[in-house]
Amino acid sequence: MIIYCQEEISSIKKSNQIVTKILSELRRMIAPGVQTKELDEYAEVRVKEMNAVPAFKGYRGYPASLCTSINEEIVHGIPSSRRLREGDIISIDFGVLYEGYYGDAAVTYPVGNITPRAKKLIETAEETFFKGVEQMRPGKRISDISFAIQSHVESQGFSVIRAFVGHGIGLSLHEEPQVPNFGLPGRGPKIKSGMVLAIEPMIAMGDWDVEILDDNWTAITRDRSLSAHYEHTVAITEKGPEILSLSDEEKKNAPYLKENHYA
Ligand code: MF3
Ligand code: CO
Repeated sequence: MIIYCQEEISSIKKSNQIVTKILSELRRMIAPGVQTKELDEYAEVRVKEMNAVPAFKGYRGYPASLCTSINEEIVHGIPSSRRLREGDIISIDFGVLYEGYYGDAAVTYPVGNITPRAKKLIETAEETFFKGVEQMRPGKRISDISFAIQSHVESQGFSVIRAFVGHGIGLSLHEEPQVPNFGLPGRGPKIKSGMVLAIEPMIAMGDWDVEILDDNWTAITRDRSLSAHYEHTVAITEKGPEILSLSDEEKKNAPYLKENHYA
């Protein structure tokens, strides 16, 4: 488990600010008829313009810069010629390497008009992330985050995916500790100032069982129910958690941030 100094955390933040900038640009491209590979091509051009490197491409053989997961796809959907359709929800997961440090974030966007229940699912994934972040204070334990996430998701009548976890991040894309999205509180490593964690609840409308498609990447819900994913890279500081992959603008508008005091 790596404890990062302030200077390193500001480097990790730079990488994450590239991630969030490109994700917000991608949001404007989301519309019925758009192919997911067009999103991937755009991200790849932009990341190069910003002198960064896509972190997922080539990672364990992953073939693209983005993960684009539509509807019942949970994570690791591979961009393709598939076109978005009105009413879809799409999770976009993006990671970059910039000057030696990694950034990682994911958001779920609606395509045109979606059902109120799909909207509720997306909002719950976001809200759940912030419930987890509230626990990210020195003295707490990793599974306090897990417990807060699971409790909130289930209180909203949704289920939390168990097959994937959040993770430490910084010098590598995936570092210790793993951060499960379910479990009892008070377990696992102590949270310390200087830790940097990617917190990433993945939730489903139905059951949490997962199936992997024949492409060996795309994870879907076994019952084909809709799934949403929301992820940010967060640093633990003495002043509280700092979400490195939100822009100042996004922080101002984030509905769940206001009630809390974050760094
Ligand atoms: N955000 C995901 C993660 O934290 C992305 C990994 S996708 C991969 O694990 F393609 F790189 F595997
Ligand atoms: Co991640």
